[in-house]
Amino acid sequence: MVSVRAMHVGDLDAVVAVHREVLDMEFLSRFGPRFLRVYYQAWITTLGSVALVALEDGVVVGGLLGASDPARHVRAMVRDHGMTLALHQAGAALINPLLARDLIATRAARYVRGVARLVTSRWRQPASVAPSGPVVGEITHVLVTRRVQGQGAGRALVEAALAQMRADGVHSVELVTPPDLAARHFYERLGWRLTGERASRSGEPFLHFTFDLDA
Ligand SMILES: CC(C)(COP(=O)(O)OP(=O)(O)OC[C@H]1O[C@@H](n2cnc3c(N)ncnc32)[C@H](O)[C@@H]1OP(=O)(O)O)[C@@H](O)C(=O)NCCC(=O)NCCS
Repeated sequence: MVSVRAMHVGDLDAVVAVHREVLDMEFLSRFGPRFLRVYYQAWITTLGSVALVALEDGVVVGGLLGASDPARHVRAMVRDHGMTLALHQAGAALINPLLARDLIATRAARYVRGVARLVTSRWRQPASVAPSGPVVGEITHVLVTRRVQGQGAGRALVEAALAQMRADGVHSVELVTPPDLAARHFYERLGWRLTGERASRSGEPFLHFTFDLDA
């Protein structure tokens, strides 16, 4: 029987292990488990995050990351954890020339702009959990260990995230997934609408899905 609860710091090693197992092709995974642990820790300790784990017999078998107010959450992530995350990425890139090349080609300019904003007062506004208006929530990661895939853990995670976002006042939720990933069928099955194909800020193609909480 699968249950879902908020992700705690004590879950991080287990969630990172699942992430590396099922999303090893993802860009973030290339920075290694230490970076992923710092990333997840930053995410769950930043205001406005939605971070959940799925448990089977008390053991973590999956996780979900999202945000009720993504723009505000990203600002707070950059302000509070940007430097630590950048240092961990730089450390991993230093010992991996291919990773360094891809990091520079796809993300360096954007990251530098983020850090530049960090040192200006634009980023110094206080973070708050309350959405600033009719906001669109976001799910960024859903992952379930292969051993229990197909048994409802993914559905339970997404439904719990949607419930939390609805309680936060969110009207609709978005996510993107690579076109070649089977996850697109999972989201379609859960009632998400395919609302287009677009490139990420780093240039990779993604399918864009929306779920209307008001419907
Ligand atoms: C996608 C993923 C999270 C689904 O989790 P899961 O626990 O296996 O999914 P569930 O068992 O809750 O499935 C929910 C529904 O989706 C359907 N479904 C799940 N994966 C599917 C697939 N690949 N193709 C078609 N349908 C699928 C199930 O049949 C089920 O339908 P039902 O409830 O009507 O029987 C899991 O396969 C996974 O971790 N994949 C690797 C990571 C990934 O791609 N994450 C998404 C991008 S971040």
